[in-house]
Amino acid sequence: MKNVLETDVAGLKLKNPTMLAAGILGLSMESLMSVANAGAGAVVSKSLGIEPRHGYGNPTVVQVEGGVLNAMGLPNPGIQVFIQEMAENRLTVPLILSLYAFAPKEFATAATKASTAEVNGLELNVSCPHASGTGQELGRDPKLIMDIVKAVRETVNMPLFVKLTPNVTDIVGLAKAAEKAGASGITAINTVKAMAIDIETSKPILANIIGGLSGSAVRPIALRCVYEIYESVKIPIIGCGGVDSWQTAVQFLQAGASAVQIGTAIATKGLSIFREVNDGVERFLKRKSYGSVKEIVGLSHRS
Ligand code: SIN
Repeated sequence: MKNVLETDVAGLKLKNPTMLAAGILGLSMESLMSVANAGAGAVVSKSLGIEPRHGYGNPTVVQVEGGVLNAMGLPNPGIQVFIQEMAENRLTVPLILSLYAFAPKEFATAATKASTAEVNGLELNVSCPHASGTGQELGRDPKLIMDIVKAVRETVNMPLFVKLTPNVTDIVGLAKAAEKAGASGITAINTVKAMAIDIETSKPILANIIGGLSGSAVRPIALRCVYEIYESVKIPIIGCGGVDSWQTAVQFLQAGASAVQIGTAIATKGLSIFREVNDGVERFLKRKSYGSVKEIVGLSHRS
């Protein structure tokens, strides 16, 4: 029987349109396998850099109304250690490696290293809202996005996604720059720059003061970004930001996303969120007599 959820995104064949978002459970083969076994159509690693990085002190995560605020500071063991961890890739779904760096040349070096690993695609993190010298400090500038994507494109030939920040007035301009420079797809969005204060101590709660907000509170922003980007680029979009049910996944697909990433909802609902979303989307497609999930991508623009 035909799998109505099957899709492809920039050449990656997916058994369903859900992916693990970067940042959660993304550093070991064991944890990535548990996400794949829970039903994700693809998985994305935690963002990796060339050098190991400790990240910020605690607290790095705080629950707030409508979501989660985090400022981890890009902690990771370095790309080389991750490549060793992936040496025996036992995943049955595509693995996308998330990369951060501090300059276009360094992105290219990191991508070259990544291409020696058993990975199926790269996601460039030019959107972390609180890391000095990297993340959105680079990715708010369309010219720098072009330089980064071109540098990586000249180095590797694999699906290349660019994860964009919503913390700009013109995310469409960033998406267009990424497309022009050779990106295969856009991930929209990374977290929204935000903070929380403890009124008893009158101090900011996060050790880094400023963090990134994810979860249902950011969903309308993410949805708007996907909708606007879809109108302006031809490359596929992966929607990310507050997907926590099959209904919210359908909203992203109809706005123009070819797939959705799930992160924060894992903290609240556990890994069963992947089956919940996939089963719900499948029932929806059948109820509406669609033959494939691809048929509802961008539907909101045609109605
Ligand atoms: C972090 O590690 O602090 C989060 C990474 C990101 O926001 O991209």
